[in-house]
Amino acid sequence: MHFKNNRLIAAPMAGVSDSIFRSLCRENGADIVITEMVSVDGIAYGAEATLELLRFESLERPVGIQLFGADPEKFKRSAAIVAERFQPDFIDLNAGCPVAKVVKKNGGASLLKDLDRFEKIIRAIIEAVAFPVTVKLRSGWSKNQWVDCEFAQCAESRGAAAVILHPRSQTMGFSGHSFWERIAAVKSALSIPVIGNGDVTCAEDALVMKAQTGCDGIMIGRGTYGNPWIFSQVKAALRGEPVCRPGVAQRRAMALRHIMLHRDRYGERRAAKEMKKHVSWYIKGMAGASSWRDRIFRSSSTGELEAVINEAFRD
Ligand SMILES: Cc1cc2nc3c(=O)[nH]c(=O)nc-3n(C[C@H](O)[C@H](O)[C@H](O)COP(=O)(O)O)c2cc1C
Repeated sequence: MHFKNNRLIAAPMAGVSDSIFRSLCRENGADIVITEMVSVDGIAYGAEATLELLRFESLERPVGIQLFGADPEKFKRSAAIVAERFQPDFIDLNAGCPVAKVVKKNGGASLLKDLDRFEKIIRAIIEAVAFPVTVKLRSGWSKNQWVDCEFAQCAESRGAAAVILHPRSQTMGFSGHSFWERIAAVKSALSIPVIGNGDVTCAEDALVMKAQTGCDGIMIGRGTYGNPWIFSQVKAALRGEPVCRPGVAQRRAMALRHIMLHRDRYGERRAAKEMKKHVSWYIKGMAGASSWRDRIFRSSSTGELEAVINEAFRD
């Protein structure tokens, strides 16, 4: 398990990157995937719904499980539970989630305000497991008050295998553009691999990020929406080869297969609800996409979603 040589990682995205989505990313060129974040409070409490989020298929490997929370002791217990029950390839610590309900409880990006707590958490996870531990950071709490180098160096000194940096502040949420120069700064401050993340939406973006930062690998989040091919496209570009774009038939087949896999795994009711966003992402850019979107969000079955796809992607 290593994080060098331009490895491409599918970003953890709560409500998006479930097991099916991750499998599609792996099939289409992602080298590594990470589960959506799960709370150490839920794991330590033994909450089945939380543990369910951690389940993955062996074809997703290498897969990391991402933990969030604030209490080092709970991280230690949760990491041990996760190691025993799921045996992931690595654990990733979330030190970047900006969402109010997470930071209010001192988790996610709040860790960037407390180096001592951050350090204790990393030590607790590393002590609990025998496989690699990575850290996913934002660059700081407030814009231009960057703490990324300090926290990344702390992670390295405590034995982290790699650092993933999304160079925005908590206060920025997802606004503006990420500050890729911070990835370069962290890269030059560390010996362990640094994975760049933020605003890579096409192969060309990945080339620019790589050239500007020297990052060891790239993580892609929103650029995967309706576009799992982005990983193979980035790979081709990094090798200096031409980038192939999927045709209409390929996009239709992927969208239909995604629905089918989702329905087979989670059942009709859940698939009808959860696939709406994915379908609207697959048809993005097609003529008349906004009227298709209305139909998608009014639909109540996967059959209706399939009908929209077949019409939107008619040859
Ligand atoms: C819907 C959504 C859910 C997310 N959930 C998580 C999460 O569970 N854990 C995490 O570390 N980051 C999460 N993120 C942040 C992404 O992993 C990534 O850092 C961010 O989107 C920037 O990368 P991008 O510009 O490639 O999307 C989430 C982002 C989005 C849009």
